[in-house]
Amino acid sequence: MGANKLNITWHDRVLTKSDYLKRNGHQPLVLWFTGLSGSGKSTLAHAVEEELFRKGCYTYILDGDNIRHGLNSDLGFSEADRRENIRRIGEVAKLFVDAGIIVLAAFISPYREDRERVRALFEPAEFIEVFVNCDLAVCESRDPKGLYRKARSGELKQFTGIDSPYEVPFRPELVVNTACYGVEDSVRAVLAFVTERGFLGGDW
Ligand code: ADX
Repeated sequence: MGANKLNITWHDRVLTKSDYLKRNGHQPLVLWFTGLSGSGKSTLAHAVEEELFRKGCYTYILDGDNIRHGLNSDLGFSEADRRENIRRIGEVAKLFVDAGIIVLAAFISPYREDRERVRALFEPAEFIEVFVNCDLAVCESRDPKGLYRKARSGELKQFTGIDSPYEVPFRPELVVNTACYGVEDSVRAVLAFVTERGFLGGDW
């Protein structure tokens, strides 16, 4: 239902993004990690967060498996549910960005249109799409949660890459190939990107 129908009115905030920026010493950002299950999104996002945190940045992780335990525990893996999953996460990421925080979001987010809709919530410089690129065969051989095996046997339906699509990003800000590079190199690539773009200010 739209806001007008509910008789609700937007209340402007007193503090602005620039107040947070001055205090935090860095811009807010969304690092949006997209890729197949088992591609290494969560591992990479957590490792990047640790580095940023250690350097004094204000950070928070939004991770598919964890968010589906709470906020999105009512959602499954149909196209509509995945869409709603990503829509809600986009809105949550926006709240964190309003609070001056660097958000690291790790979701399969298989549909291009959904990712673009999230991107549109932010200033162009605030949203960085990181394509965690890893061949299906490699993800499947890793199979850290045993889900590919279940999907192949038919025990698990609508599994991304098997019987549910994954749409590769057309123009991600960054591609990290985790089939070729280890976690350390991948973390370095992400940090180099955000540093070179001047997002972090100060002495990096
Ligand atoms: S998304 O497609 O809606 O973006 P999300 O990132 O939240 O997915 O959750 C993906 C995680 O849920 C996977 O890493 C995997 O552990 C688990 N999962 C369970 N069922 C499925 C499925 N059918 N397809 C993909 N991932 C699944």
